[in-house]
Amino acid sequence: MKKLVVLISGNGSNLQSILDACASGRINGSVAAVFSNKATAFGLTRARDAGVPAHALAASDFPDREAFDRQLMAAIDACAPDLVVLAGYMRILSSAFVAHYQDRLLNIHPSLLPKYPGLHTHRQALANGDAEHGTSVHFVTDELDGGPVILQARVPIFPGDDEEAITARVQHQEHAIYPLVIGWFVEGRLAMREGKAWLDNQPLPPQGYAND
Ligand code: GAR
Repeated sequence: MKKLVVLISGNGSNLQSILDACASGRINGSVAAVFSNKATAFGLTRARDAGVPAHALAASDFPDREAFDRQLMAAIDACAPDLVVLAGYMRILSSAFVAHYQDRLLNIHPSLLPKYPGLHTHRQALANGDAEHGTSVHFVTDELDGGPVILQARVPIFPGDDEEAITARVQHQEHAIYPLVIGWFVEGRLAMREGKAWLDNQPLPPQGYAND
């Protein structure tokens, strides 16, 4: 059975969907540990409730990003994971971290990448009057929110929607597509090669496997 390590910073609803998918067998793997850069992250409680070791590291205890990431890498490597999953981990990664987990590092970002990398994606979609929004699962590279997309889910934006309504609609989709993609990876169907995402030995197009 494949081992996952999940990094979070907050509520951990995506972590919960991953824990649930492991428990039900939809992901043929287990979460070996959860790490957060915020000690108050509710996701740590979710992990412990599921019997998964959960740890917080404080950036203020380290002189710089590289030192923080070195410690995090050592802690992650002690779990010998097959895959490292960023699930609402809101801290920029050092190049050394990205290089160390190259080809086995996934992220979920709440926009239809390449639209809206970075923060406040829901607010930007609303402010721009977009008719649709969504979320993307992608392999992580050195470019912020710029690695190859594996799968996207689209949601409509309705008149009168606020940020909260759109966030909930997007997260509902996230909880479906992230476990699905992680399942593909642990089954050996998904890989990153030559800077592209491959599913069943086919390179995926820039928008990933599916649009719906
Ligand atoms: C998710 O919506 C995820 O897409 C987003 O943070 C939220 C975390 O929610 N990630 C990013 O913005 C990364 N750039 P959760 O803690 O409930 O899973």
